[in-house]
Amino acid sequence: MKPAQRPASPFFSSGPCAKRPGWSPQALADACLGRSHRSKAGKAKLALAIDKTRALLGVPADYRIGIVPGSDTGAVEMALWSLLGPRGVDMLAWESFGSGWVTDVLKQLRLDDVRTLKADYGELPDLSRIEDDRDVVFTWNGTTSGVRVPNGDWLGDNRLGLAICDATSAVFAMELPWDKLDVVTYSWQKVLGGEAAHGMLILSPRAVERLESYAPPWPLPKLFRMTKNGKLIEGIFTGATINTPSMLCLEDYLDALGWVESIGGLAAMITRSQANLAAITDWVAATAWVDFLATDPATRSNTSVCLKIVDAGFAALDADARAALVKKLVGLLEAEGVAYDIGGYRDAPPGLRIWAGGTVETADIQALLPWLDWAFATVNEI
Ligand SMILES: Cc1ncc(COP(=O)(O)O)c(C=O)c1O
Repeated sequence: MKPAQRPASPFFSSGPCAKRPGWSPQALADACLGRSHRSKAGKAKLALAIDKTRALLGVPADYRIGIVPGSDTGAVEMALWSLLGPRGVDMLAWESFGSGWVTDVLKQLRLDDVRTLKADYGELPDLSRIEDDRDVVFTWNGTTSGVRVPNGDWLGDNRLGLAICDATSAVFAMELPWDKLDVVTYSWQKVLGGEAAHGMLILSPRAVERLESYAPPWPLPKLFRMTKNGKLIEGIFTGATINTPSMLCLEDYLDALGWVESIGGLAAMITRSQANLAAITDWVAATAWVDFLATDPATRSNTSVCLKIVDAGFAALDADARAALVKKLVGLLEAEGVAYDIGGYRDAPPGLRIWAGGTVETADIQALLPWLDWAFATVNEI
């Protein structure tokens, strides 16, 4: 039997994520369009985005916040290309995005002193192996495996190396220990449900010190350059962007920040996301055919919730048949208008990935879950 109730909103994609409840294009009516981004009005909007980001996330006053090109990838690569080299670096990878940064460092930057600490989908690498005098690059939340670091306790209090953190599916959903992080990056379309365009690049004073004291031996394109004559280009971190930003996307980011403010800020976003995860957790506990991909509950993501299918019949299928079954299940739910984009990532074990960040209503998650049972039963009958 098909469940009687449908989610009011079927948007459960892990990026771009669901827009905030009540969003409409009307939210963009006040965008600074057709004007220079360097006009007084344009710069004021960019500066406001930086100020609101700082206030809502609790970014320390002495950290720089920049709006940069190329979404989260752009922000991470600016950091890797500009900062790495003077110290050995530990690269952590436990899913696709972390593995991408390993490839950058090994195959593109070709650094000599690199330790790669890897783990399979569902696990974390051994964080106790991280050393204070080495740089470390990691994702806070591995979006494609639904495994996050539980906290920052494994980063020493007196580190000499920089901690470079891709936090794109963690900010506005998880607490970040700013005092232990030197670079934090994210993009607007994740968690906040903003529009994809720009990256946010947040730098600690120690990261700035590295930028001002070290010049990498490789060429840096203009899009990556954060210093001039050995000094930080401060303008980048006050709204004088390196190149032209989208003022429409910026307005949408400001709208998302305004909504976060209106519901009670970061704490409310975390609570909403945790409630979504709790709803899924209850259902998983009562459901024989699924389990979390993350093996340790302390590392389970509350944003990109990844589920594996543990049904014996499914396990007996070959890899192609398993992937085909998941595709059918996901297609069925999309055709019913119940859930969009909830298939696991292409490189992850075949399963489901449900976005549970704060823009998703818990009632919609609750309405979705019986449909998953229905769809699984239906594809097994076909
Ligand atoms: C952990 C992580 N890193 C990087 C990216 C790439 O982000 P973007 O498309 O904003 O460059 C994503 C996108 O989903 C992600 O989840």
